[in-house]
Amino acid sequence: MDTIELKRATISDKEVLVDIDFRLDEIEHVEQRRAEKIVQAIVNGQCFIIEADEKEVGFMLFDYRFFDQGWIELIIIDEEHRGKGIATKAMELICKESKTNKVFTSTNKSNTKMQKALAKAGFSFAGEIIGLDDGDPELFYFRARKDDC
Ligand SMILES: CC(C)(COP(=O)(O)OP(=O)(O)OC[C@H]1O[C@@H](n2cnc3c(N)ncnc32)[C@H](O)[C@@H]1OP(=O)(O)O)[C@@H](O)C(=O)NCCC(=O)NCCS
Repeated sequence: MDTIELKRATISDKEVLVDIDFRLDEIEHVEQRRAEKIVQAIVNGQCFIIEADEKEVGFMLFDYRFFDQGWIELIIIDEEHRGKGIATKAMELICKESKTNKVFTSTNKSNTKMQKALAKAGFSFAGEIIGLDDGDPELFYFRARKDDC
Protein backbone atom coordinates (compact mmCIF):
# COMPACT_ATOMS: atom_id res chain seq x y z
CA MET A 1 0.00 0.00 0.00
CA ASP A 2 1.77 3.16 -1.16
CA THR A 3 -0.42 6.17 -0.39
CA ILE A 4 -3.21 6.58 2.13
CA GLU A 5 -5.16 9.83 1.83
CA LEU A 6 -8.16 11.47 3.48
CA LYS A 7 -10.50 13.46 1.26
CA ARG A 8 -13.48 15.43 2.45
CA ALA A 9 -16.52 13.66 1.00
CA THR A 10 -19.03 15.41 -1.25
CA ILE A 11 -22.59 14.38 -1.92
CA SER A 12 -21.47 12.60 -5.11
CA ASP A 13 -19.60 10.13 -2.84
CA LYS A 14 -22.80 9.21 -0.98
CA GLU A 15 -23.48 5.88 -2.72
CA VAL A 16 -19.95 4.52 -2.24
CA LEU A 17 -19.98 5.39 1.48
CA VAL A 18 -23.51 4.11 2.11
CA ASP A 19 -22.56 0.82 0.38
CA ILE A 20 -19.49 0.42 2.62
CA ASP A 21 -21.64 1.00 5.71
CA PHE A 22 -24.35 -1.38 4.44
CA ARG A 23 -21.79 -4.15 3.88
CA LEU A 24 -20.54 -3.75 7.47
CA ASP A 25 -23.92 -4.46 9.09
CA GLU A 26 -27.08 -4.48 7.00
CA ILE A 27 -29.43 -4.55 10.00
CA GLU A 28 -27.79 -1.71 11.92
CA HIS A 29 -27.53 0.24 8.68
CA VAL A 30 -31.29 0.19 8.25
CA GLU A 31 -32.41 0.28 11.90
CA GLN A 32 -30.11 3.15 12.85
CA ARG A 33 -30.85 5.12 9.66
CA ARG A 34 -27.15 5.33 8.98
CA ALA A 35 -27.55 6.49 5.38
CA GLU A 36 -29.15 9.67 6.74
CA LYS A 37 -26.32 10.05 9.27
CA ILE A 38 -23.71 9.74 6.52
CA VAL A 39 -25.48 12.29 4.30
CA GLN A 40 -25.75 14.73 7.23
CA ALA A 41 -22.02 14.32 7.95
CA ILE A 42 -21.20 14.96 4.27
CA VAL A 43 -23.36 18.11 4.28
CA ASN A 44 -21.65 19.29 7.50
CA GLY A 45 -18.17 18.66 6.05
CA GLN A 46 -17.54 15.98 8.68
CA CYS A 47 -17.17 12.93 6.45
CA PHE A 48 -13.78 11.89 5.05
CA ILE A 49 -13.21 9.24 2.39
CA ILE A 50 -10.19 7.06 3.06
CA GLU A 51 -8.32 6.29 -0.16
CA ALA A 52 -5.54 3.74 -0.58
CA ASP A 53 -3.63 4.14 -3.82
CA GLU A 54 -6.47 6.40 -5.02
CA LYS A 55 -9.15 3.74 -4.41
CA GLU A 56 -11.96 4.35 -1.91
CA VAL A 57 -11.50 1.77 0.85
CA GLY A 58 -13.37 3.29 3.77
CA PHE A 59 -14.54 6.44 5.48
CA MET A 60 -14.38 8.35 8.74
CA LEU A 61 -16.86 10.64 10.48
CA PHE A 62 -15.01 13.35 12.38
CA ASP A 63 -16.39 16.33 14.29
CA TYR A 64 -15.96 18.43 17.46
CA ARG A 65 -19.07 17.39 19.39
CA PHE A 66 -17.10 15.78 22.26
CA PHE A 67 -16.35 18.65 24.69
CA ASP A 68 -15.21 20.72 21.67
CA GLN A 69 -12.37 18.27 21.08
CA GLY A 70 -11.59 16.49 17.81
CA TRP A 71 -13.78 13.37 17.82
CA ILE A 72 -13.64 10.32 15.57
CA GLU A 73 -17.28 9.29 15.56
CA LEU A 74 -16.83 6.35 13.22
CA ILE A 75 -14.17 4.73 11.05
CA ILE A 76 -14.85 1.87 8.68
CA ILE A 77 -12.42 0.08 6.38
CA ASP A 78 -14.02 -2.26 3.84
CA GLU A 79 -13.34 -5.86 4.86
CA GLU A 80 -11.06 -6.80 1.96
CA HIS A 81 -8.72 -3.91 2.79
CA ARG A 82 -8.34 -4.52 6.52
CA GLY A 83 -5.15 -5.50 8.36
CA LYS A 84 -2.88 -3.39 6.15
CA GLY A 85 -2.44 -0.42 8.46
CA ILE A 86 -4.98 1.76 6.63
CA ALA A 87 -7.07 2.72 9.69
CA THR A 88 -3.89 3.41 11.64
CA LYS A 89 -2.64 5.81 8.97
CA ALA A 90 -6.07 7.43 8.49
CA MET A 91 -6.29 8.18 12.22
CA GLU A 92 -2.80 9.68 12.16
CA LEU A 93 -3.88 11.88 9.24
CA ILE A 94 -7.06 13.10 10.95
CA CYS A 95 -4.94 14.30 13.88
CA LYS A 96 -3.22 16.64 11.41
CA GLU A 97 -6.59 17.86 10.11
CA SER A 98 -7.91 18.50 13.62
CA LYS A 99 -8.20 22.09 14.86
CA THR A 100 -7.63 20.85 18.41
CA ASN A 101 -4.47 19.54 20.05
CA LYS A 102 -6.31 16.46 21.24
CA VAL A 103 -8.38 13.96 19.29
CA PHE A 104 -10.70 11.59 21.12
CA THR A 105 -12.59 8.48 20.10
CA SER A 106 -14.24 5.43 21.62
CA THR A 107 -14.85 1.82 20.80
CA ASN A 108 -16.44 -1.22 22.39
CA LYS A 109 -14.28 -3.39 24.66
CA SER A 110 -15.02 -6.29 22.30
CA ASN A 111 -13.48 -4.43 19.32
CA THR A 112 -9.86 -5.52 19.73
CA LYS A 113 -8.98 -4.66 16.09
CA MET A 114 -9.88 -1.03 16.68
CA GLN A 115 -7.98 -1.00 19.98
CA LYS A 116 -4.85 -2.32 18.20
CA ALA A 117 -5.15 0.25 15.42
CA LEU A 118 -5.58 3.02 18.02
CA ALA A 119 -2.48 1.88 19.91
CA LYS A 120 -0.50 1.83 16.64
CA ALA A 121 -1.72 5.34 15.82
CA GLY A 122 -0.43 6.59 19.19
CA PHE A 123 -3.72 6.88 21.05
CA SER A 124 -3.81 6.40 24.84
CA PHE A 125 -6.55 4.85 26.93
CA ALA A 126 -8.66 7.52 28.65
CA GLY A 127 -11.23 5.49 30.55
CA GLU A 128 -14.34 3.40 30.13
CA ILE A 129 -18.03 3.76 30.73
CA ILE A 130 -20.63 1.08 31.10
CA GLY A 131 -24.32 1.17 30.28
CA LEU A 132 -24.32 1.99 26.57
CA ASP A 133 -24.12 -1.51 25.04
CA ASP A 134 -25.16 -4.18 27.53
CA GLY A 135 -22.15 -6.23 28.67
CA ASP A 136 -19.73 -4.43 26.34
CA PRO A 137 -18.22 -1.30 27.92
CA GLU A 138 -17.23 1.71 25.81
CA LEU A 139 -13.48 2.42 25.94
CA PHE A 140 -12.33 6.00 25.36
CA TYR A 141 -8.98 6.96 23.83
CA PHE A 142 -7.17 10.17 23.00
CA ARG A 143 -4.14 11.33 21.12
CA ALA A 144 -2.44 14.18 22.93
CA ARG A 145 -0.53 16.30 20.44
CA LYS A 146 -1.37 16.78 16.79
CA ASP A 147 2.28 17.80 16.12
CA ASP A 148 3.31 14.23 16.95
CA CYS A 149 0.83 12.64 14.55
C1 LIG B 1 -11.37 -1.40 13.21
C2 LIG B 1 -10.96 -1.15 11.77
C3 LIG B 1 -11.34 0.29 11.37
C4 LIG B 1 -9.45 -1.34 11.64
O1 LIG B 1 -9.08 -1.07 10.30
P1 LIG B 1 -7.74 -1.68 9.66
O2 LIG B 1 -7.38 -0.85 8.50
O3 LIG B 1 -7.91 -3.13 9.43
O4 LIG B 1 -6.71 -1.44 10.87
P2 LIG B 1 -5.13 -1.51 10.76
O5 LIG B 1 -4.74 -2.37 9.58
O6 LIG B 1 -4.61 -0.13 10.81
O7 LIG B 1 -4.75 -2.22 12.12
C5 LIG B 1 -5.37 -3.42 12.42
C6 LIG B 1 -4.45 -4.60 12.12
O8 LIG B 1 -3.53 -4.43 11.04
C7 LIG B 1 -2.17 -4.58 11.51
N1 LIG B 1 -1.31 -3.67 10.75
C8 LIG B 1 -1.08 -2.37 11.02
N2 LIG B 1 -0.22 -1.87 10.10
C9 LIG B 1 0.03 -2.85 9.21
C10 LIG B 1 0.80 -2.94 8.02
N3 LIG B 1 1.50 -1.88 7.55
N4 LIG B 1 0.82 -4.10 7.34
C11 LIG B 1 0.11 -5.16 7.79
N5 LIG B 1 -0.64 -5.12 8.92
C12 LIG B 1 -0.67 -3.99 9.61
C13 LIG B 1 -2.29 -4.25 12.92
O9 LIG B 1 -1.24 -4.79 13.69
C14 LIG B 1 -3.56 -4.94 13.23
O10 LIG B 1 -3.33 -6.34 13.10
P3 LIG B 1 -3.89 -7.43 14.05
O11 LIG B 1 -5.26 -7.00 14.47
O12 LIG B 1 -3.93 -8.63 13.20
O13 LIG B 1 -2.91 -7.47 15.16
C15 LIG B 1 -11.64 -2.18 10.80
O14 LIG B 1 -11.44 -3.48 11.31
C16 LIG B 1 -13.13 -1.93 10.60
O15 LIG B 1 -13.54 -1.18 9.70
N6 LIG B 1 -13.98 -2.57 11.44
C17 LIG B 1 -15.42 -2.42 11.35
C18 LIG B 1 -15.88 -1.04 11.84
C19 LIG B 1 -15.34 -0.72 13.21
O16 LIG B 1 -15.34 -1.55 14.11
N7 LIG B 1 -14.86 0.54 13.36
C20 LIG B 1 -14.27 0.98 14.62
C21 LIG B 1 -15.27 1.54 15.60
S1 LIG B 1 -15.85 3.12 15.07
